Amino acid sequence: MRRSLGAALAIASTGLPACAAEAPSSLNPQGPASSRIEGLWWFMFGVSAAVVVFVGALILVALAKRRHASGGIEDTPGWARRLIVGGGVLFPIVVLSVLWVLTLHDMAALSQPRPAALTIDVVGHQWWWEVRYPAQRITDANDIHIPVGQPVRLELSTADVNHSFWVPQITAKMDQIAGRVNTLTLQADHPGIYRGQCAEYCGLQHANMALYVIALSPSDFRAWEQAAAQVPAVPTDATLLHGRQVFLSSACAACHTIAGTGASGAVGPDLTHFGSRRTIGAGTVANTAGNLGGWIIDAQAIKPGNVMPPIQLSSVDLQGLVKYLESLK
Ligand code: CUA
Repeated sequence: MRRSLGAALAIASTGLPACAAEAPSSLNPQGPASSRIEGLWWFMFGVSAAVVVFVGALILVALAKRRHASGGIEDTPGWARRLIVGGGVLFPIVVLSVLWVLTLHDMAALSQPRPAALTIDVVGHQWWWEVRYPAQRITDANDIHIPVGQPVRLELSTADVNHSFWVPQITAKMDQIAGRVNTLTLQADHPGIYRGQCAEYCGLQHANMALYVIALSPSDFRAWEQAAAQVPAVPTDATLLHGRQVFLSSACAACHTIAGTGASGAVGPDLTHFGSRRTIGAGTVANTAGNLGGWIIDAQAIKPGNVMPPIQLSSVDLQGLVKYLESLK
């Protein structure tokens, strides 16, 4: 009952017509951290609902038994004064203290570092996420691949302003604060794709700063790891080769990196495996050839304020470039 109500509320809160398992809400937890948060949420909800019902009932009783005022406060009977002091002062102190202690207890448990076989650095940028696997020498953006059922250590930092990392179904929020590294344990119970979102206002495109955690079975994760560590081969197809040439000779290479080419720009996301990404612009639009073409020509029309300038290309150059980038799996 609790689970189905949580899933229903989760869907109602996101407006998604998706199945319950896909609702990206803390009330649809898919990992130990979010399950703990969900338990506390339901306890707080239950206590709050009981208080509202109790106070509402008292108001109804008072309305039913009201008498016309005949005297001042000094005429209030002793039991009524005790009710006002007990219910209005002592009761809130006790209830709020209990909720506070439970919250502190869960916060302490959630921030407890756990031994993890995998460490991932996540750097916030206005407005995208740089994702690095230092031991594997893999750099990615906006998609975070993890093995299912295992704690993964995240080291969270920022390259500019403060951001906040949050994947509601599998982890608590953690701020990314300029000048320091915060850590968080990420763990998903089931394979799947979990949407995350920057949870701290960070400028114009804060709302378009999404990410996806892709939880894979251990064997799928190892396969992904091996593929992601590969340097893309130089294409043999003439269109792709032309697209590669366009990339290297235009403004693209000054801001983006593609492993194995001369391009090593560090302003925008690493594009070594761009074709395997789910979205363009950190969740702004789906990663399709049409959207990519529009993005290259005028990224400001799609995500105003981001640092990518418009790139003027002939249609042949643009088609080659789009095909080449989409081929980088
Ligand atoms: Cu980054 Cu909000």
